Amino acid sequence: MAHEKTLHDLFRDTLKDIYFAEKKILGALPKMAKAAQSPELKAVFEKHETETEKQVERLERVFEEIDEAPRGKTCDAIMGIIEEGQEVLKEYKGMPALDAGLLAAAQAVEHSEISRYGTLRTWASELGLSQSVKLLDATLAEEKKTDEALTKLAQSKVNQHAQAA
Ligand SMILES: [Fe+2]
Repeated sequence: MAHEKTLHDLFRDTLKDIYFAEKKILGALPKMAKAAQSPELKAVFEKHETETEKQVERLERVFEEIDEAPRGKTCDAIMGIIEEGQEVLKEYKGMPALDAGLLAAAQAVEHSEISRYGTLRTWASELGLSQSVKLLDATLAEEKKTDEALTKLAQSKVNQHAQAA
């Protein structure tokens, strides 16, 4: 008989999914930082790259709490979001709206992560994984802060610049 899949399986599979996603993001962030024209946007991307390295480590500690070796599983959603970002990078190269497009792509990444981490954090709490709850909460807070920093930057600078003729 097939193994009855429970919340624990869902937690482990979603963990693999976000582990894969974080590693992809780690590869994309330096390219986005390099392409960004605004020094402030560059700085947000660079700061988040350092944070993402820590987030990967936190995920490895979550794997430890459930006695699993850290392993990623292809996440089509993040591949699609990153692919869209690369398209903006190519199609808007040297254009006034490049930064606005890169910023929007980064926010799509953050929103996807906020959704995943919010779910994982709640499941970890229901599964009694107290160490994981703390780790996932710490990352969730970072993702939300990054998203807010991006919104502020869009409103204060980047969107105006994109409208310049
Ligand atoms: Fe992240």
